[in-house]
Amino acid sequence: MRTVYVNGEYLPENEAKVSIFDRAFLMADGVYEVTSVLQGKLIDFAGHARRLERSLRELDMDRPDAFDDLLEIHRELVRRNGIEEGLVYLQITRGAAPDRDFAFPDPEEVKPTLVLFTQSKPGLADSPMARTGIKVISIADERWGRRDIKTVQLLYPSMGKMMAKKAGCDDAWMIEDGYVTEGTSNNAYIIKGNRIITRGLSNDILHGITRAAVLRYAREAQMEVEERNFTIDEAKAADEAFVTSASTFVMPVVEIDGVAIGDGTPGPHATRLREIYLEESLKEAV
Ligand code: PDD
Repeated sequence: MRTVYVNGEYLPENEAKVSIFDRAFLMADGVYEVTSVLQGKLIDFAGHARRLERSLRELDMDRPDAFDDLLEIHRELVRRNGIEEGLVYLQITRGAAPDRDFAFPDPEEVKPTLVLFTQSKPGLADSPMARTGIKVISIADERWGRRDIKTVQLLYPSMGKMMAKKAGCDDAWMIEDGYVTEGTSNNAYIIKGNRIITRGLSNDILHGITRAAVLRYAREAQMEVEERNFTIDEAKAADEAFVTSASTFVMPVVEIDGVAIGDGTPGPHATRLREIYLEESLKEAV
């Protein structure tokens, strides 16, 4: 059985408890991070910790007392659960107020809830999916306007994933005002020639930690990077497409709305970027 972490305690998963009055349960009033584990080490932990701090600040949510121990808690969970390849999920909520109330509780009285657990995923790096690529559909982006904050309010992305599955595909790219925002749980890119095109950072998308690293490595590898909006038609006509996230790294996209991208197999740039990302991020893993 897995060992999980809840508010200062390491517990077997079936003994871990959170109140029914927790604001994440009642109001989706919580933020999260997903950090990948390769060779038993955390990938880009510092980036995830920085974004977590920003999410808390944007929501005027207090840091839990254990905030400065987060790296140690991540490592301890990885160790206790023997994770070689997989993920650490972390969630902070505004805590359990005495009653359901739209107003935030007094932070002096209600302390944040901190939960972490691991998911073992052997084959995360050497993924068969990365060799075939994934198929996506396009759907309308019907999420709220602060997608830069990593909240647990994930119902629409879940619905998008189900729409993709129903269509026999793997994921959905979301469209707003005619332009692709991002995937249900990843950032979206197209490639034309030697140029990577991806939407610029704003409140419209999550500021991916993998995105920042991949764009840095791409520039170092002499690829051009253009941060701008692109349409789904432009994507369908691109040479290559891919997505990035902590759980998929760089994942080639080979079909959009039934249209093959390039020759319908993972392209050379996306494949190379995945290799570079895995290699470079492992060097800095902790
Ligand atoms: N999702 N965009 C969205 C909407 C996301 O949910 C995610 C991550 C990303 C990529 O961010 P990063 O590179 O920092 O993982 C972009 C995580 C993996 C999840 O919800 O499981």
